[in-house]
Amino acid sequence: EPLVISNKDEMRQWSRAMRCQGKVIGLVPTMGYLHEGHLTLVREAHKHANVIAVSIYVNPGQFSPNEDLSTYPSDFDGDIRKLMSVTGGVDVVFHPHNLYDYGNDKKNSNVAIEGDKMVSCVDQGGFGHETWIRVEKLEKGLCGNSRPVFFRGVATIVTKLFNIVEPDVAFFGKKDYQQWRIIQRMVRDLDFSIKIVGCEITRENDGLAMSSRNVHLSTKDRENALSINKSLLKAKSAAENGEVHCEKLRSLVLQCITEAGGQIDYAEIVDQENLEKVEFINGPVVFCVAAWFGEVRLVDNMEINFK
Ligand code: PAJ
Repeated sequence: EPLVISNKDEMRQWSRAMRCQGKVIGLVPTMGYLHEGHLTLVREAHKHANVIAVSIYVNPGQFSPNEDLSTYPSDFDGDIRKLMSVTGGVDVVFHPHNLYDYGNDKKNSNVAIEGDKMVSCVDQGGFGHETWIRVEKLEKGLCGNSRPVFFRGVATIVTKLFNIVEPDVAFFGKKDYQQWRIIQRMVRDLDFSIKIVGCEITRENDGLAMSSRNVHLSTKDRENALSINKSLLKAKSAAENGEVHCEKLRSLVLQCITEAGGQIDYAEIVDQENLEKVEFINGPVVFCVAAWFGEVRLVDNMEINFK
């Protein structure tokens, strides 16, 4: 069984003790309700690190007040079991209760806790936590349009996790492509001494990208949501067969998802590195999609490598 640590000072002590023994420390940050996608990150971590920490923390700082913080699924015992099922397991699960509680100024704390659930988001520059990391260009566009505080919250919590766990290498899924690129850029720009490894998307057998939020899909929506991956595959093969006009590829995807009853948030073909919109494909791009099926917002993407 992994050691479960909830206190951040204890977490740092563990990590420093490991470093003294010459171990390479890997960190897999998650929000829990783990699935095979997360476990693939853990398996990848075994290739790079001697000891592995998985963090499980639903970060209020990356949710807007109207988003699904209060209904975000959790199953801590199940998560531990799944982590133990991976060959080699994991060494530590870091499971803090509230990473924005600095033990002072309770009245002005910007995370409300009712029972055991966090119910409000961290406010914009309130009295408690007020330091934010912004990756100014990359955080705009794609998911940044409909989720304006999301990447600020992600970059900030990942920085906090890096400072607490002090890993040598950390693992992120390309399922959240923009998030991965933002963390890579942040690490470069701020000279974190941490290697970032991007891991391929893990899919269900029928192609749906795995996500903790998939449990909230109705049977019908689950079926209809397959249109995302299907249409991305179509677009990819059209591109590989010489269609370089992005508007043509976009309309293919828009039509397919809309016909299946999905509400498109965005469907954009962007440069793999800087995530800027591309009109004609003449280098490596990634086709990024976010769409609503019922109450669930799903994201997916497909890299298209121009040859
Ligand atoms: P969460 O959604 O739990 O995802 C944790 C990590 O697993 C992320 O790096 C995500 O990209 C990766 N992941 C999720 N589904 C995947 C899939 N189907 N294939 C491959 N990788 C997948 O992303 C977050 O949590 C949070 O924003 C976090 C980085 C932990 C900061 O709070």
